[in-house]
Amino acid sequence: MIMEIHFGVDYYPEHWPRERWETDAKLMQEMGVQVVRMAEFSWFKMEPREGEFHFEWLEEAIALLDKHGIKTILGTPTAAPPAWIIEKNPEIQPIDTQGRVRHFGGRHHDCQSNPTYRAHIKRFVTHMSQRFANNPGVIGWQIDNELGNAHGDLCMCDSCKARFQQWLEKKYGDIETLNDAWGTAFWSQGYNTFSQISTPLITAVGENPSAMLDWKCFCSDLIVDFAKWQADIIRENCPNHFITHNYMCFDDKVNYYDLGELLDFVSNDIYPAGYWQEQPHQPDSDIAACHDVVRSYKKKPFWIMEQQAGISGWGTMARALDPGQMSVWAMQSVAHGADAVVFFRWRACAMGTEQYWHGILGHSGRPGRNYEEAKKLIHTFAPHMDEFEGAMPKPEVAIVHSFRQNYAFQIQPNHPDLRYVEHLKKYYKAFYDKKIPVDFVQDSDDLSQYKLVIAPLQYLMTPELEQHYIDYVEAGGHLVLDMRAGVKDANNICMTDRELPGRLGDLCGIEIPEYDCLFSKECQVLFGKREYPVSKWADIITLTDAKMIAEYTTSFYKQTPAVTENVYGQGKAWYVGTQPGAELMDELVEYFTQESDVERLGTAQDGVELMTRESDGQVWLFVINHTNEEKVYHLNDTYRLLEGEREEYLKPYEVQLFVKNKYGR
Ligand code: GLA
Ligand code: ZN
Repeated sequence: MIMEIHFGVDYYPEHWPRERWETDAKLMQEMGVQVVRMAEFSWFKMEPREGEFHFEWLEEAIALLDKHGIKTILGTPTAAPPAWIIEKNPEIQPIDTQGRVRHFGGRHHDCQSNPTYRAHIKRFVTHMSQRFANNPGVIGWQIDNELGNAHGDLCMCDSCKARFQQWLEKKYGDIETLNDAWGTAFWSQGYNTFSQISTPLITAVGENPSAMLDWKCFCSDLIVDFAKWQADIIRENCPNHFITHNYMCFDDKVNYYDLGELLDFVSNDIYPAGYWQEQPHQPDSDIAACHDVVRSYKKKPFWIMEQQAGISGWGTMARALDPGQMSVWAMQSVAHGADAVVFFRWRACAMGTEQYWHGILGHSGRPGRNYEEAKKLIHTFAPHMDEFEGAMPKPEVAIVHSFRQNYAFQIQPNHPDLRYVEHLKKYYKAFYDKKIPVDFVQDSDDLSQYKLVIAPLQYLMTPELEQHYIDYVEAGGHLVLDMRAGVKDANNICMTDRELPGRLGDLCGIEIPEYDCLFSKECQVLFGKREYPVSKWADIITLTDAKMIAEYTTSFYKQTPAVTENVYGQGKAWYVGTQPGAELMDELVEYFTQESDVERLGTAQDGVELMTRESDGQVWLFVINHTNEEKVYHLNDTYRLLEGEREEYLKPYEVQLFVKNKYGR
């Protein structure tokens, strides 16, 4: 679906007098805006009383924008049901783990399984989608807003309970199977019937890890079903419109791979300098990792539906962006696969919770620094973006990413500070620093196109997944496995049939009869001629076939293997029994990439990012300076400079764009 739409803004005309709309549309047009997203929180404006629909204001705004060459994406407003619905049906408000109601007054005060709420949604979304199906200004839909946001430990209500019971009954068939799968022999947790099973309200103490894993998977399925409820209506009424949803990077409440199946393409919201962070902004490599995982959710280019456009803030605020920083972040999104970037928001709002969430325009509405910067960015890069719309990065390296593994570590982190996504990002950063592009993949994906696959924390294991990894290596793949591999079965119960890491031990040529949680404990590893700190965990490894490539130098297991290498079939399997610190990670990744023949795009000073997108033999290369200093870099291949002044040299916050033909044509 080629749309030739590349830049936009999130727009809330209902927050401003109508007399202002024309000025907004003109300013947007001059800036180069081609699309707006509207209405995702405007239920009350569209239906102030049950059955009384007011879409005229929205139609007027859409028409006015269309006159200025700007198309509209409509959001369904289902993340904030109006007060009249709550008054009539208070039971649609969600219940938290302590059994308390989360009340009206903010947003996300809805239970996603509640049939009464579903009926309101059906009524409203049917009406809205029929009304806008043939509106010439409208091109697509965003379902709800940031599904999973603020639904962290929700919802424990009776409706969700009944649905959870049905979900379990469908999965297990009979209660004995569930009792086995959950290991309910422990602490007398056996059930006679599915109807005895509750949503996980706060307990006196402890919880069942198997039950919790099912609960998290159930919640994800429920959110997907909630989205489908709306997607089905919109598909039927608006066959010519696309459907998307705004994701939140690595957020985990809903399995984004599953949700992606309902959508034409995935969108993402990205706030590198969120006000909740202690640091001025997220590390550049973390932002890059977000884009790469978002691209991987549907293996397609994506949209940014909310790209930070100014200071972020609710009650307190984050730092101001440096001149050029907003553009750099926008182009970083593009470099990793965004076909369009929509800035949040057009104008800082004067009222409500988000008064301090700044936009392209400030409160005064007068174009200033951000406006000029965005305009320059769009006029420079939008013309090129038609050419590489649809193009994808083609990494040689993949990192396996799994919602289920993440859930299992949330339930039992093993070490108090072990975080699944943070652990993946440690590998990611080492590749990022070496200018090596990375894909994220699901563990069920075909891995054969990758020279090197990193599969961290393969904690929940099945015979099929073991075989999948064995097949990949046997056929010539290079695989890195690490600590806590093969510990549990799919039900989150410890495996007992052989030593860790189960059958993966044959692949890696090792056994792990013992381990040590490095809680408040220092640990060092010798690799080459240097010692490096490691943390979180130490697998105590016995070699069966493998060779040792790094050893512990601390504790009773000093001089035993910390990292091993095993030739298997045509390929190689490495096992890393600990969490390497940044320096050791860097050295190990250097070694793995050399052994796997993985190429780098070039070399550069710190703060410079290199990334490519490819299609039809053309390769576009982005060079991004994330700092306010001059930088130098070197490319490993010859490219033609399309935007930028001087090759191998960058001004502060400069973005350069190159192209080459892969076949020298
Ligand atoms: C999220 C939401 C927006 C807005 C911004 C800023 O990304 O999708 O509605 O709330 O954050 O807080
Ligand atoms: Zn509920």
